[in-house]
Order: sequence, then structure tokens, then C-alpha cells
Amino acid sequence: MSFLQACRCEPVERTPVWFMRQAGRSLPEYRALRRDGDILDAVRTPEIAVELTLQPVRRYGVDAAILFSDIVVPLVGVGVDIKVLPGRGPVLDPPFRDASDLDRLRPLEPESDLAPVLETARLLAGELDVPLIGFAGAPFTLASYLIEGGPSRNFARTKALMHAEPTLWHRLCSALADIALATLRAEVGAGAGAVQLFDSWAGSLSRPEYLRYALPYSRTILDGLRDVGVPRIHFGVGTGELLDLMAQAGADVVGIDWRVSLPDASARVGEGIALQGNLDPALCLAPPEVVEAATREVLAEAKTLPGHVFNLGHGVLPDTDPGVLQAVVDLVHEETAR
Ligand code: CP3
Repeated sequence: MSFLQACRCEPVERTPVWFMRQAGRSLPEYRALRRDGDILDAVRTPEIAVELTLQPVRRYGVDAAILFSDIVVPLVGVGVDIKVLPGRGPVLDPPFRDASDLDRLRPLEPESDLAPVLETARLLAGELDVPLIGFAGAPFTLASYLIEGGPSRNFARTKALMHAEPTLWHRLCSALADIALATLRAEVGAGAGAVQLFDSWAGSLSRPEYLRYALPYSRTILDGLRDVGVPRIHFGVGTGELLDLMAQAGADVVGIDWRVSLPDASARVGEGIALQGNLDPALCLAPPEVVEAATREVLAEAKTLPGHVFNLGHGVLPDTDPGVLQAVVDLVHEETAR
């Protein structure tokens, strides 16, 4: 299992590769199965979620599968009325504003609140011959959707709240950390062999903000998984200035976007931590020779790393030609075979 070995900085037969959002609109078979139904309905239907998880594994021969779900699914599970709009993302009306909104979050009971997701994971574990990655959203990123009521560019309301009402922020993020930890522990119990904590928007925070308002809650989650023994991947976008802190939060693997070179990132995260990344997903829309050169560059940069999982620096863009991603998988496998 080269994926798990690379996550643990152990020697591998060849560099493992998978893609964030490998399941999704870039695949014709995904569009055919999903049509214009609600993504949350697809997540709630294990036969469909299993098939959507398997599609990219079958097509590309990637070295890991990622559970077909969404970071907002556990919040929906505890009764928050979030919708996921196509082309836009998660929205909530009315958004969270004050302490009374904490009543909208209750503790997660995974076996009932996430029953279909766990069933999907169990079915997949019996079918896959590569590891299944379970995942959850980190408290800062989830809180931003709850407070902004949707996707955001500057996270103004979220930042205003964390600075103005630190006690409320603390209560909110503690509740979100408990939900994320319960989600991940249950997914591992159902067969996930690794977990990824998505703090996708943490790159909008300064170091002092990250230290005070994000890291403690992500640490609760990552530390709370130590005893289950699976690799813990910690990912965000635009986090070049935070990579050392994200590693300190308790990760075995840190996800890197395209803004930081892998050797620089490795120096920042410190010893004994593997890196995942970091081909720019936008480059996958360029001609094949550009993608090939960029892939070779990532591999060259990764040569001296203790552990490397090849991935994009963020999710696959919907307009990506699957043939381009296939060429990336094949090139990574061929070039790194020992
Ligand atoms: O292969 C996979 O990665 C599939 C599983 C997966 C989805 N969402 C399915 C999905 C994962 C790991 C996620 C995580 C997720 N969801 C994150 C963290 C990863 C990241 O991209 O930073 C975030 C921030 C979300 C919230 C969210 N959900 C967004 C921003 C969107 C995109 C809106 C759009 O339509 O472009 C969604 C919807 C969503 N979740 C889609 C998929 C495949 C696309 C919409 C659809 O097919 O209906």
C-alpha cells in the first residue's frame, strides 16, 4: 500500500497519487449518475455514493479513494439546514450570528446521524484494494460557512466574530471540533484507512489568528485520532505562512498548494512529516506538454522528501479533461517506479 507507506515516511515502490475532488463534474460518468439531483441526496444513498467514490479509482488507477461526501454533511446530520448549491457551494439562511445559534448544533451521534455515510464506507472497505480516505472540515472552515451563510472571499463576518466575541467563537469551534472528531473516528471504525482534515480557507488567517482561533480546535481533532493509528492529513489553501503550525497541530502529512515549493514546505513543516501535493489544478487545463513538464517538476522537487503523496494543490477543476489526469497518474507511476 504505497499510499499509507508514503504517509508514514516509509519507503515506497512508487510514489502514490490521488486527486482532491477526483470524483466530480470533470468525469462524464459522474455527470451521468448525478444529473441535476441534490448532492446531499447522493451522499445519503450508499449505492450511489459507493459508485461515485469508485469511478475515479477505476478510471485512473489512483492509489487512494476518498469517501464521496461533503464537509457539511455532519452539520446536516445534527440538523443544521445547510443546502449545497451547484456551482456555489454550501449556503445557510439565516446564518449564525450570536450565542442563541449554538442551540442549532447538538452533539453528533455518528451511528444514527451519519448512518448512510458509514454504510458507504463499510461497503467500500469490502470492495476497494486501495485505502479509503475519510474526511471532515476543520472548525475554522466550517464556522466560516455557518457565519457567512455561504462561500466568502474575505471572511469578514467570521473574523469580526472571532475577534469581537472570543468566548462565543470558542464555544462554536469546540462544538465543531467534537463533531469533526466523532465523524472521523466513526469513518475509521467503518473502514477508512486514513483521514484528511480540510481547513480549506485557513490561509485567510494571520499567524496570530491561526494560533489563537483555529489551531487549538484542529489540534483537538488530530490529537483525538492519535490512538486510532491511521495517517492524518492536514490540508488548506494559501497556507504557506502557516505550514509549521499546521504540522504542530498533529498531522502526519501536510497538504501543500502550488504557491510553496515542496523543499521549502518540507523545511517549514519539519522532520518526519510527509507532504501531499502540489500540482496547480489550473495547469491541468493547459496543453499536455505543459502538464507533463509541471508534473515532472513536482516529482523533481519531491526527490529529497521523507514521504510524498502526489496530488494537486487543491481540487480538480470541473473543466479538466480526464485524459490529462490519466496522463499525470501514469507519469507519476512510471517515473517513480523503483
Ligand atoms: O472526490 C472528492 O473529493 C469527493 C468528495 C468531496 C466533496 N466535497 C464532494 C463535492 C470532498 C472531499 C469535499 C470537501 C469539501 N466540500 C471541501 C474541502 C475541499 C476543498 O475543495 O477545499 C469544501 C470547502 C466543501 C464545500 C463545497 N461543497 C464546495 C466549495 C462545493 C463546490 C460547489 C460547486 O458546485 O462548485 C461543494 C459541492 C461539492 N462537494 C461537489 C462535489 C463533487 C460539486 C457539486 C456537485 O457535484 O453537485
